[in-house]
Amino acid sequence: MDHFLYKNGVLCAEDVPVAGIAAAVGTPFYVYSTATLLRHFTLFDEALEGIDHLVCYAMKAASNQAILKTLAQAGAGMDVVSGGEYRRAKAAGVPADKIVFSGVGKTAAEIRLALEGGIRQFNVESEPEMALLDATARAMNTVAPITIRVNPDVDAKTHAKIATGKSENKFGIPISRAREVYRLAATMPGLRVIGIDVHIGSQLTDLAPFEQAYRKVADLTEMLRADGHEMMRLDLGGGLGIPYARDNQAPPLPSDYGAMVRRTLGHLGCEIEIEPGRLIAGNAGLMVSEVIYVKSGEGRDFLIIDGAMNDLIRPAMYEAWHDIIPVVEPVPGAEQAKYDIVGPVCESGDTFARERMMPPVASGDLVAFRSAGAYGAVMSSEYNSRPLIPEVLVRGDQFAVIRPRPTFDEMINRDTIPEWL
Ligand code: LLP
Repeated sequence: MDHFLYKNGVLCAEDVPVAGIAAAVGTPFYVYSTATLLRHFTLFDEALEGIDHLVCYAMKAASNQAILKTLAQAGAGMDVVSGGEYRRAKAAGVPADKIVFSGVGKTAAEIRLALEGGIRQFNVESEPEMALLDATARAMNTVAPITIRVNPDVDAKTHAKIATGKSENKFGIPISRAREVYRLAATMPGLRVIGIDVHIGSQLTDLAPFEQAYRKVADLTEMLRADGHEMMRLDLGGGLGIPYARDNQAPPLPSDYGAMVRRTLGHLGCEIEIEPGRLIAGNAGLMVSEVIYVKSGEGRDFLIIDGAMNDLIRPAMYEAWHDIIPVVEPVPGAEQAKYDIVGPVCESGDTFARERMMPPVASGDLVAFRSAGAYGAVMSSEYNSRPLIPEVLVRGDQFAVIRPRPTFDEMINRDTIPEWL
């Protein structure tokens, strides 16, 4: 459920008409709903009620300071994957002991940054990383708390570009080698091994692959305990999918996921961490765009809009579906027309949807891309010299720009010309 509904015939973000925001900030833009962000965080938090747990929002999904602060104030921890994200989490007021550092390529500088600033744990992904972390921690006279990310070789049955739990993926240590790697980690005085980490992919619409992976983690936990390791924490990653197309079969609810976690891992008495990104932010954001032209092509009509692949790359990159709806509510039973919905960028990949049935739209109309809150603004670029689009946060009947649109001068003046030119 989200808080983007038609009220009196116009699309609203909570209690704010989307068209009013468009008039104030121009198009295209992203708009997020505070109530939806909080609702999704709370659903996860409640799903694990009764188990010692922490929901660490995977901030790669949407990392604006205002979004982080909203979630942090509700008690969320953060999953970070770079020094930049670590700094953003700290800047938004997230306590260091609620920040988890994931990622397969942590640099020495990033490791030092987190050891200096404090960290809940590093999720270590390889033996060379383990060695560097050990050496860095010892040089700093400290001990780094770690889990080791295991790759359970489970098919997440999601888009190939966002599956991470198969043996051919770059992530984690093969579960078959885990005992050996844990033995090695235990000999390193700069490390304190506290648990296991697993993340098998994103946009999973079925609990079965999670369950398969978590059963393997449960077995491994017992094996490692028998080997003498302290196993107090299990980080289960993120990945629970969201409904992108409203007529799609709905993915499992966080409560179903929580029940499955209890079933598979509850008996171990470990503290549980989860790292949802998409399910917290995805349906909490829209991208709003204006129709520039309706162009009749051969056998098809194109809606050319002012948003483009540089603003929302998911359709071009993953063939992702986003529902695209008019900002003025169509009259019930209105006839539909078929459009290819495209942006102005100079490549055919700049296509959001093909042969999409829509109520008839005209130049100047506003359309909203639903489910654009996760992996939308964060993956945008200035390709074709299109400045990054603004982000807006709504709470109740108020809205605020949380990242302004840069001016063209700001964009151009970031470049510098060598003296000799
Ligand atoms: N934890 C780790 C270690 C991850 O790599 C990810 C996502 C998450 C948590 C959060 O997963 P989520 O709950 O959001 O599914 N750009 C792609 C998605 C990439 C996901 C990368 N890792 C997209 O737009 O679909």
